[in-house]
Amino acid sequence: MKALIIYDSAFGNTEKVAQAMGAALGCEVRRVTEMTPEQLTGLDALIVGSPTQKFQPLKPIKDFLKELPAGKLTGVRVAAFDTRVALADVNSAILNVFVKLFGYAAEPIGKRLTQKGGELAMPPEGFYVAGTKGPLKDGELERAAAWAGQIQQ
Ligand SMILES: Cc1cc2nc3c(=O)[nH]c(=O)nc-3n(C[C@H](O)[C@H](O)[C@H](O)COP(=O)(O)O)c2cc1C
Repeated sequence: MKALIIYDSAFGNTEKVAQAMGAALGCEVRRVTEMTPEQLTGLDALIVGSPTQKFQPLKPIKDFLKELPAGKLTGVRVAAFDTRVALADVNSAILNVFVKLFGYAAEPIGKRLTQKGGELAMPPEGFYVAGTKGPLKDGELERAAAWAGQIQQ
């Protein structure tokens, strides 16, 4: 199975998650800014991840997905993830409301991937950081590796 993981990362946490997934799948891991849509050829599986900032993926991820030609991911198993802060750690009623309204980055990434023809292999998933700059919460790299493994089934 030829798989690829594409990510972006502001502080390095999403990169660590992507690398843990790449190690689990034995596949390439690339930062989105190093990629062109033409490089997505001959793939069986594609995982895309971004930090959640202002309830959304980072712009380079959004732009890359938007610019993919229609049908580019036909026949490809796809999955989307983000990193995020746990609501319980922020303890803000306002933020609770906004998150209910606007959610996290993984959902819109997953939608874009399926819009471009991909077949969602598992539901979008979020991995937790302890603070804006990290670190990742305990056990998240292991959880990420196990989650990514589902794309092979
Ligand atoms: C400007 C900014 C906006 C953010 N907005 C959100 C948000 O809407 N929801 C959330 O859960 N975390 C938010 N965060 C926290 C990020 O999700 C966190 O910094 C990220 O997961 C760290 O991953 P990275 O090291 O790969 O950048 C925000 C962080 C920044 C800097």
